[in-house]
Amino acid sequence: MATPQKILLGITGGIAAYKTPELIRLLVKKGIAVQVVMTRTAEQFVTPVTLRSVSGERVLTADWNNQEDPFDHLNRTRGLAAALIAPATANFLGKLAHGVADDLLLTSVLALECPLFVAPSMNPRMYANPAVQDNIRILEGRGVHIIRPDEGEMACGDSGAGRLPSIGHLATVIEEAVGPTADLKGKRIIVTAGPTEEPIDAVRFISNRSSGRMGVAIAEAARDRGADVTLIHGPLSIPLPENITNISVRRAQEMMDELAARFGGCDMLVMAAAVSDFRPSVVYDSKMKKNEAGLSISLEQNPDILERLGKHKENRLIIGFAAETDNLLQNAREKLLRKNMDVICANDVGRGDIGFDNDYNEITLISRTREPLSLPRLPKRQLADRILDEAARLLSSPRAAASGQG
Ligand code: PMT
Repeated sequence: MATPQKILLGITGGIAAYKTPELIRLLVKKGIAVQVVMTRTAEQFVTPVTLRSVSGERVLTADWNNQEDPFDHLNRTRGLAAALIAPATANFLGKLAHGVADDLLLTSVLALECPLFVAPSMNPRMYANPAVQDNIRILEGRGVHIIRPDEGEMACGDSGAGRLPSIGHLATVIEEAVGPTADLKGKRIIVTAGPTEEPIDAVRFISNRSSGRMGVAIAEAARDRGADVTLIHGPLSIPLPENITNISVRRAQEMMDELAARFGGCDMLVMAAAVSDFRPSVVYDSKMKKNEAGLSISLEQNPDILERLGKHKENRLIIGFAAETDNLLQNAREKLLRKNMDVICANDVGRGDIGFDNDYNEITLISRTREPLSLPRLPKRQLADRILDEAARLLSSPRAAASGQG
């Protein structure tokens, strides 16, 4: 099955629409990509810009007018794992039950080929109205999954059944419907993340702004796709992932040693760590005094971990990153070949809105066998799944055994 799993989230104009950014955030965290389609009234409760920010995908609104591809909204309903309408108003239920297609959301929903989940949410007296209940029965009779509303006090002051169920519940329903993608099941994958720290003295060190987010996102995505994951990481500024073997290191040499001990037993290595290229030639045990080393620190080169491991690649898959500020694709391609990788993620680290210490990234995937693939700016977890799509494709092809030293 194609990954990451993608769903359509239809948002109609109920007050509970304000909860949908949080729902999208949860789904994306679970590795589920979300294509939002919203009605004009929904825009009164939540903005397309907010939904675009959390989903990382273009939001289709009632004013959608795509001259380049008038069938874009229909194309976006293909290959979906599921669709969820939340909140679904009485108006939407009535129109869907009777096949009315007078806006973009209804048109898209009528064209769906995947399971459809609908979460009605409205005033309890409206929800209890026989017309609404009849429409729900019609939809259920056609195989639509109705997620019943919760009971409780409503924004309007009335009490009863009509509240949108918790965001956590909706996310779980969708996660179960979509099912886990296990295309990396049984694969032993090592991921590196974060910076390395090269000590100067007892309290000072050379490092960089890597937070570890990119590497951790790849490790979590690989775990969720069934892989047996080991994460070798420098000092991280984010929590450690669960159900992953986490190995903490500080210096590049320690990362090299841990990798050298494990590389032989893995199917794939993803080097997302920002390894320090240099280290001080002398490390002082105590804190240096102002005048102790003069104003210069002499540096020596760290091992290039990937270059060394690349020499013993055999049929393992190696994916690396190229953090570049100039000549992005050219420099990335040079590193791909010199370090004997299969795929390199060319990463423009000169930009402030992606890369180091950011929740988002944007990369171009360069491999030996395919044209470069430019991926859009996406939350790192979504990008991780796009990288692993390529990894899963290569792991299941005869490529690995065939690729030799670059
Ligand atoms: O951690 P985040 O805040 O989420 O930021 C993500 C990131 C920007 C750090 C990440 O996406 C990234 O680009 N990582 C690679 C950083 C880097 O060291 O790039 P490089 O072009 O200097 O190195 C090329 C490749 O060789 C990398 O895969 C690197 O891990 C590896 N390398 C580098 C130096 C070295 N001595 N040994 C290595 O193995």
